[in-house]
Amino acid sequence: MAVINEQGLQQIAEIIKQHQMLAGAMLPILHAIQNSVAFIPDNAMPLIAKALNVSRAEVHGVVSFYHHFRTEKPGNHVIEVCRGESCQAMGSRTLERAIKSKLAIDYHQTSSDQQYTLEPVYCLGNCACSPAIRIGDDIHGEVDPGKFEQILDALTTYSLELK
Ligand code: FES
Repeated sequence: MAVINEQGLQQIAEIIKQHQMLAGAMLPILHAIQNSVAFIPDNAMPLIAKALNVSRAEVHGVVSFYHHFRTEKPGNHVIEVCRGESCQAMGSRTLERAIKSKLAIDYHQTSSDQQYTLEPVYCLGNCACSPAIRIGDDIHGEVDPGKFEQILDALTTYSLELK
């Protein structure tokens, strides 16, 4: 499990403060933390436990129950592949095999260059354009292995331009 530095912890403490009075605050806090720092650091869990007056084990339990929550820092690009019914009917299984092979990782893993993390999702609300994937905030429809290569090329070029 990964940890975050002092500055990150302060950011998380602020997030906890903003959400702890909500009913059922645990999930909103975890979502807000992951949205903010991309994962749930191990050293954030005692802060959450203390604020909500629950045990650390309870926080760990919730984090590990929901696959959505990451306990490791993800790659620069999180690629989510839809495994919903519509996408499966339109060939997402072939697409996911091609993506795993291309990136040399399985679901819930990050490529060795720390560029890509692969996650499954179950409907991106883009069924009319199945199969669909999401990279960051961008949803791509009618993706086949060839189109994925193009998307990846564009992503790589864009990343290089930013350096
Ligand atoms: S099932 Fe894939 S977008 Fe809906």
